[in-house]
Amino acid sequence: MSKYCIANWKMYMNRNKIDSYFNDFLEKDFDKNCKLIICPSPMHIDYVYEKIRTNKSIFLGSQNISEHENGAFTGECSLEMLLESNCMYSIIGHSERRELFNENDFNVNSKLQILNNSPVNPIICIGETSDENESGITKAVLKNQLIKIFDNIDFKDTKEYIIAYEPIWAIGTGKSADTETIYSIHKFLKNIINEINTNNCNICLLYGGSVNDNNAAEILSINEVDGFLIGSASLNADKFYNIYNKF
Ligand code: 13P
Repeated sequence: MSKYCIANWKMYMNRNKIDSYFNDFLEKDFDKNCKLIICPSPMHIDYVYEKIRTNKSIFLGSQNISEHENGAFTGECSLEMLLESNCMYSIIGHSERRELFNENDFNVNSKLQILNNSPVNPIICIGETSDENESGITKAVLKNQLIKIFDNIDFKDTKEYIIAYEPIWAIGTGKSADTETIYSIHKFLKNIINEINTNNCNICLLYGGSVNDNNAAEILSINEVDGFLIGSASLNADKFYNIYNKF
C-alpha cells in the first residue's frame, strides 16, 4: 500500500515564494517510502515543473480538473492541459470547490470518469460540515458521498485511487480531528470501500485538516491512515518536509 504526503497550495503562492520554497527543499533527502506530491495553482504548474523536473521523488498534481474534455468553459482546465503540464495527479471534490463553486458529488463523479480513462490519478476529497458532525450523521454523509462519486466507475488496476477524508470543520482551523475520530472514520471508510466493487484495486485513504509537524506523527501512527493532504503547513517548505520526514 502506497503512502502519500500531498501539498495543496490553494491560491497562496506566487513566483517569488515558489523560488524561495525550492531554494533548500531540493537538496533534501527524499528517501521515505512515501510519494510527495505538490498541487500548485494552474498558473504555476509549469513553473513548479521546471524546478522539480530532475527530482524523481516529487510529483505534480492539480487542484481541480474540468469535467469536460474541451469547449467553451471559461476559466476551466482540461485533462489534456494537465497532461501537457506533466500533472500525474488531480484533486477533485475539495470542500472549497463544493462550498464556494457549487460542485456536488455528481460533478465529482464526472471528473473521476475523465481521470479514470487517463494516466492522471484522482485525489478524491470527502468530508462533513460541522453541522453534520454535530448532528451525528458524519458516517451517513461520507457513505453517501462515496457511493455517488464511485457510481459506474470501472476501477482499473493500473491506476492509483486516493481518497482524502477532510472534515470541513478541521480545514484551516488549526483544530485537527482527534486520533480516535480519525481511526473510527477511516476504519468505517475502509469497510465501505471493501463493499464497493473496486476490482481489487488498492484505494488509499488520507487524512486532511490542520495537519502540521506537531500532530503528523501521532495521526500517522494510525494504521488506517495512508498519508496526508495538507494545506497551510505545506506552504512552508521546512514544515512540509518535517511532515514528510515522519513517514
Ligand atoms: P489545512 O491543512 O490548512 O487545514 O487545509 C487542508 C486542506 O484543505 C487540504 O486540501
